[in-house]
Amino acid sequence: MKNTNSILVSFFLGIILFTFTFCSDSNSIENKPNIQALTESWEKVIPHQELPEGLSSLSAKQCGVCHQDHYKEWQQSTHAHAWTDLQFQAELKKESSPFMCINCHIPLQNQQEYIIEGLIDGDIYQPVKRKNPKFDKTLQQEGINCASCHVRDGAIIGPTGTKKAPHKTVKDTKFLSESLCISCHNAVAVITPTLACSFETGDEWKAGPYFGKENCIDCHMEATHREVMKGMGERPSRIHNFAGSGIPKFDTVTTNIKNGLEFYPKLAKNIITLYDSISFSFKVKNEHAGHKVPTGDPERFFLIIFELKNGKGEVVASATERIGEKWQWHPSVKKLSDNNLDPNEERVFSFSHKSMERGKYQLSVKVTKHRMTKKTAEYNGLGSNYPTFIVIFEERYSVLVK
Ligand code: HEC
Ligand code: HEC
Ligand code: HEC
Ligand code: HEC
Ligand code: HEC
Repeated sequence: MKNTNSILVSFFLGIILFTFTFCSDSNSIENKPNIQALTESWEKVIPHQELPEGLSSLSAKQCGVCHQDHYKEWQQSTHAHAWTDLQFQAELKKESSPFMCINCHIPLQNQQEYIIEGLIDGDIYQPVKRKNPKFDKTLQQEGINCASCHVRDGAIIGPTGTKKAPHKTVKDTKFLSESLCISCHNAVAVITPTLACSFETGDEWKAGPYFGKENCIDCHMEATHREVMKGMGERPSRIHNFAGSGIPKFDTVTTNIKNGLEFYPKLAKNIITLYDSISFSFKVKNEHAGHKVPTGDPERFFLIIFELKNGKGEVVASATERIGEKWQWHPSVKKLSDNNLDPNEERVFSFSHKSMERGKYQLSVKVTKHRMTKKTAEYNGLGSNYPTFIVIFEERYSVLVK
């Protein structure tokens, strides 16, 4: 992968160069636009793909006529909603969002309305575009569809190159490997002073204990044995729902959940004497994820909420811990802190309350997983029923003070 520093340096150089060309241009007599070619990988789209022999459409719906299970599973993945997602659409409409935002969300040229031919003065906000005569709106609505991962150079790319398929099929296990996932799930760049990309899932995996043992596909595409088309006989296959954080995107679509964290609660004693202290420790371990938790979008976070209530149900003490990154977005973008859990890392959170009076108490612990804050959801106009979090652990303990 690319070196972060060199990307940062080249972006800063880009900004300096941009200022320079802008100034010198305004003094020149001709004022002919200086069109520069696209250079960064995420500026480029996957070129137009022709229909493989034996098929009548590239759309997932068509693949689904034969590959019914794959289609149903994929429909439940966020990949299927990478374009229609309300949050994505809201962010895309902002003036600060440059043209290349769509390249990982609708990656094929067939899915994009315009062909980008270059950038005026290398400015990402001044793309030179023309209408794509082969634009297919159905494919666009499908986001990251079957063809995004399986169609290249007039053939279906598969793991075996089977001759049983009615469509032209080519075996390419190197292409269908974790590097395909990482081509979208890793991007680190400060694009403008107030716009940054920070998905480091690929780098986190490469630096961690799962590298060389289990990859993205092993964990996110569960192996199974089944017919991939009715009547064709069973074969090795993989579940295509790409289960992830599990925080739903819409209140109407079920997404599939994966949890990375395990919790080990420990209450020192549940019967204590007058004026003694209650002491509770809560160990959290990233036991199942091959990368940090949370990973990907820097807006994700977890909250661990402790609450101690007396016999009347009144809260006598509470505390909240947070796992996640903190960023400053204005006036310039900067990561302020990051306490995400590395693979296998464990952290103990303690909660205690001193000088307890006689009576019955209830201690509760709740862990919530958040896609974004309520404030961000409101800021993006996502509406009050757009789901922003789920509860992944909840437990209550009784304590008696004698
Ligand atoms: C008319 C039915 C039909 C349609 C439509 C169809 N497929 Fe297939 N496909 C098959 C059959 C049959 C096989 C072979 C099944 C087997 O190996 O048991 C197959 C195999 C595959 C394989 C595995 C290849 C390998 O190397 O093992 C992939 C991947 C695949 N199809 C993807 C797609 C995609 C993507 C689409 C839509 C663009 C699609 N198929 C449309 C019937 C179809
Ligand atoms: C050892 C298994 C494992 C491996 C390897 C792995 N993941 Fe994950 N991944 C998980 C688990 C478990 C979660 C759920 C984390 C959570 O929300 O608690 C997850 C979550 C995610 C998410 C959702 C983001 C989030 O914050 O929850 C994305 C995206 C993701 N993984 C992508 C990848 C990619 C890309 C790779 C390969 C570079 C990869 N994963 C490798 C197990 C794995
Ligand atoms: C994000 C990428 C991605 C998307 C989207 C995707 N696939 Fe796959 N698919 C893969 C990978 C990777 C493999 C190979 C896994 C392996 O090596 O065993 C695969 C394998 C397959 C196979 C071979 C049998 C099996 O189950 O492993 C079929 C058939 C298939 N995909 C069909 C589809 C269909 C149909 C769709 C759309 C409904 C689809 N895929 C969407 C990545 C994708
Ligand atoms: C063309 C770019 C692209 C490719 C290739 C790709 N992804 Fe994704 N993936 C995305 C985008 C974009 C999203 C988020 C969509 C959204 O939230 O609207 C996503 C979402 C996910 C999620 C769900 C995260 C969550 O919120 O729960 C998982 C898990 C995931 N991808 C795993 C994979 C794996 C495994 C592969 C490789 C087989 C892969 N992806 C290949 C772009 C891609
Ligand atoms: C290099 C590929 C890439 C580019 C370019 C890209 N994205 Fe994404 N985007 C992703 C991936 C991968 C995910 C899923 C991350 C995850 O779930 O961990 C995602 C998820 C999202 C989400 C959903 C966040 C969530 O919490 O589920 C939004 C909104 C989004 N992107 C907006 C944008 C905007 C706006 C731009 C342009 C500034 C952009 N994307 C450019 C790869 C990309």
